[in-house]
Amino acid sequence: MFSSGSSKIIGGAAGLALVLGIVGCGGTEEAPAPPPNPRHVAMFAPLPEVMESPANPITEEKVDLGRKLYYDTRLSKNQDVSCNTCHLLDNWGVDGKPTSAGHKGQLGPRNSPTVYNAAGQIAQFWDGREPDVEAQAKGPILNPVEMAMPSEEAVLRVVESIPGYVEEFAVAFPGQANPVTYDNLAKAIGAFERKLVTPSRFDAYLKGDGSALTATERRGLDKFIDVGCTTCHMGPYLGGNLYQKMGLVEPYPTEDEGRSAVTGNEAEKYFFKVPGLRNVAKTGPYLHDGSIDSLEEVVRIMGRYQLGKTIKPDEVMDIVAFLGALTGDLPMDYIKQPELPPSGPDTPAPDPS
Ligand code: HEC
Ligand code: HEC
Repeated sequence: MFSSGSSKIIGGAAGLALVLGIVGCGGTEEAPAPPPNPRHVAMFAPLPEVMESPANPITEEKVDLGRKLYYDTRLSKNQDVSCNTCHLLDNWGVDGKPTSAGHKGQLGPRNSPTVYNAAGQIAQFWDGREPDVEAQAKGPILNPVEMAMPSEEAVLRVVESIPGYVEEFAVAFPGQANPVTYDNLAKAIGAFERKLVTPSRFDAYLKGDGSALTATERRGLDKFIDVGCTTCHMGPYLGGNLYQKMGLVEPYPTEDEGRSAVTGNEAEKYFFKVPGLRNVAKTGPYLHDGSIDSLEEVVRIMGRYQLGKTIKPDEVMDIVAFLGALTGDLPMDYIKQPELPPSGPDTPAPDPS
């Protein structure tokens, strides 16, 4: 079942010999993989190298500062929670729990999505309530069940008490009279997040290397398109570019009203941002409430509630195999935890209350 693309490239008898692996010299060679199926390529795109934003140009200085802030627990009330507590960079940007524990171990209502490949989406959070990673970064620090800082001013007092940070803000935001601002803090973290991309074998395939996916993965990709997953999961992130109702075809049991709580529009009840599927084999448990552990189960749920289809067990396996090919390489050097600047004499003590 080769695509028209492959027959164009490997034409005639020579092509047949190639495909059958009759290539002389011992005859043990395997048939070369056919080139990527154009139908497979059309709906997706390789990941960008960086997820840029004109509003927050990425500079090395901002990124270096943002990386430190990302790992710094001193930005939390009891100085024991950082972004990395819930979005572990060496664990695909997730904590692997249904919902995450923040200040005093309190649990939030939703599953922590990954920070990898997140900045390129139309908006942030399951309900899309923040437009970009810069706006998003301001939320968790002040969220009472996450990092629980009482105010932006309190966060800035901590940053200003750490001499190394005062210097680094000045370098990262040159020419500003007062560079230590909450906006700049969010911009630095955002700039760091904009380079959290994880290219995978799927990207190599989309760029023309037919051998980058196995036959099973290609079959799974065919199924993924045939059953209609790509009506929602498409583009470079296989999602992240539209909102859809969870339970489009059959009502899905959840109390979370999703996007309608943000927009006030009843028609968007139970709508969520369609999540991207990059690294999805590594980012369970799944769905906005983290209620589903197994990827096979999510694929069946998607078939039933989003498409009104029962996906056969062997097809589920093939789709899951394809989803596994979306697992990319973690940028280990980029995410290495940096040495944090030491506290100063005025740095507040942790507040466990
Ligand atoms: C206590 C756990 C916790 C901490 C700490 C935390 N987050 Fe999150 N994060 C979450 C949860 C839960 C969500 C989803 C919430 C929602 O959608 O309503 C989320 C969502 C996000 C998203 C949106 C991703 C997407 O696909 O929509 C980004 C980006 C993010 N967090 C980055 C950060 C950064 C940066 C920090 C540190 C400043 C941080 N988080 C701190 C739990 C946490
Ligand atoms: C009508 C749009 C739509 C279609 C079609 C659709 N999905 Fe989804 N998908 C969503 C939405 C919305 C969510 C998030 C739902 C939630 O969290 O409650 C989601 C979640 C997922 C998740 C969980 C991701 C995570 O990080 O938790 C996976 C995996 C997934 N879909 C795969 C598929 C597959 C495979 C198909 C085809 C069988 C498919 N989807 C079809 C909209 C869709």
